[in-house]
Amino acid sequence: AKEPVRVLVTGAAGQIGYALVPMIARGVMLGADQPVILNMLDIPPAAEALNGVKMELVDAAFPLLKGVVATTDAVEACTGVNVAVMVGGFPRKEGMERKDVMSKNVSIYKSQASALEQHAAPNCKVLVVANPANTNALILKEFAPSIPAKNITCLTRLDHNRALGQISEKLNVQVSDVKNVIIWGNHSSTQYPDVNHATVMTPSGEKPVRELVKDDAWLNGEFITTVQQRGAAIIKARKLSSALSAASAACDHIRDWVLGTPEGTWVSMGVYSDGSYNAPAGVIYSFPVTCKNGEWTIVQGLAIDEFSRKKLDLTGVELTEEKELAYSCLS
Ligand code: NAI
Repeated sequence: AKEPVRVLVTGAAGQIGYALVPMIARGVMLGADQPVILNMLDIPPAAEALNGVKMELVDAAFPLLKGVVATTDAVEACTGVNVAVMVGGFPRKEGMERKDVMSKNVSIYKSQASALEQHAAPNCKVLVVANPANTNALILKEFAPSIPAKNITCLTRLDHNRALGQISEKLNVQVSDVKNVIIWGNHSSTQYPDVNHATVMTPSGEKPVRELVKDDAWLNGEFITTVQQRGAAIIKARKLSSALSAASAACDHIRDWVLGTPEGTWVSMGVYSDGSYNAPAGVIYSFPVTCKNGEWTIVQGLAIDEFSRKKLDLTGVELTEEKELAYSCLS
C-alpha cells in the first residue's frame, strides 16, 4: 500500500475549503489509489466551524482518508506536509484600500512562508489560491528561500477551465475535446485568456479554435471579458464566491503537476517567471506549462501576435506594480 500524502489546506473552514477537502479525501486531487492525511488550518474565530468540518470528514468515512488535523496553529498545520494548498487570506471588505488588503495578506503569507519552510516535508509543493494569488505566492517564495522557487505556484487553472468551458458552450462541443487555451499573467481582471493555440477534437481531426469559431469579434471581445469577469458573475448570482469550481481547479492543478499532463496538452499555472515570452522576470506569472515527473516546464516557442503582446504586457505591468505595493507593505 502507498504511504499517505499529507495535504495542508489553509482557510479550510471557508467556502472553498468546504468544497475542497472532500474532493481531496475522495482522491480527486492525488488519485483514487493514494491515501491522504488532511491538515486543516484556520484562524481562532473560525476554530469551531473548522472542527465542524473535521466532524463531517469523520462522518463521511472516506476510505482514502488516513487522518485529519484541524488546528489554528500554523506550525502544527505545516508539519510534515507534502502538498500545501493556501486558501486562507484576508478578503477585501467594503471601503478598504488595495494597500490595506495587500498589507494584511503580505503579513499572513510572510509568516506562513516561515512555518512551511521550517516544518513542511522536503520538496513540498505549494499552491496559493487566496487573492491576490500571484503576489501572495511571491511573498511566500521570498520568505521561504530554502523552498525551491519551482515548488511555489498560484492558481490560474480556474480561469483556464472557464476558458475551455466558454469555447465548448460556443461551439456546442464537449469540454473534454477542447484544449490548449492559455491564461497569461495575473489572476485578476487583467489576465489574458488566449485561444490562438487552442484546438478542438472533431470527427475529422484536431482543428484550431480560431478556424471553428469564425467569430473574431467574439473571441477578441466578449470571450475575454466573460472569462476575466466570471468570478464576479458567480458572486452576483450565488451571493457567494465560486467555491466549487475553484476547489475543482485546485485539484486539477495539483493532480497534473504531480501526475503529469497528457501528451500534447498544456495547462495554465502561475509560476515564478524567468522572463519567458518577455514577461517580467521575478514575479509569479501564469504561463502555459506541461508537467512530467512532478515538475512543470513552460511551453516555449509559441507565436505571440501584436494583439496578444499588448495584453501580456498589460498584465505583467500590473504584477510588477503589485510586487512593488507588496514590498512597500513590508517596510
Ligand atoms: P472564505 O472567506 O469563505 O474563506 C477564507 C477562510 O480563510 C476563512 O475561513 C478565514 O477564516 C480563513 N483565514 C483568514 N486568515 C487566515 C489565516 N491567516 N490563516 C488561515 N486561514 C485564514 O473565502 P473563500 O471563498 O473560500 O475564498 C478564499 C480565497 O480564495 C479568497 O482570497 C478568494 O479571493 C480566493 N479565490 C481565488 C480563486 C482563484 O482562482 N485563484 C478563485 C476563487 C476565490
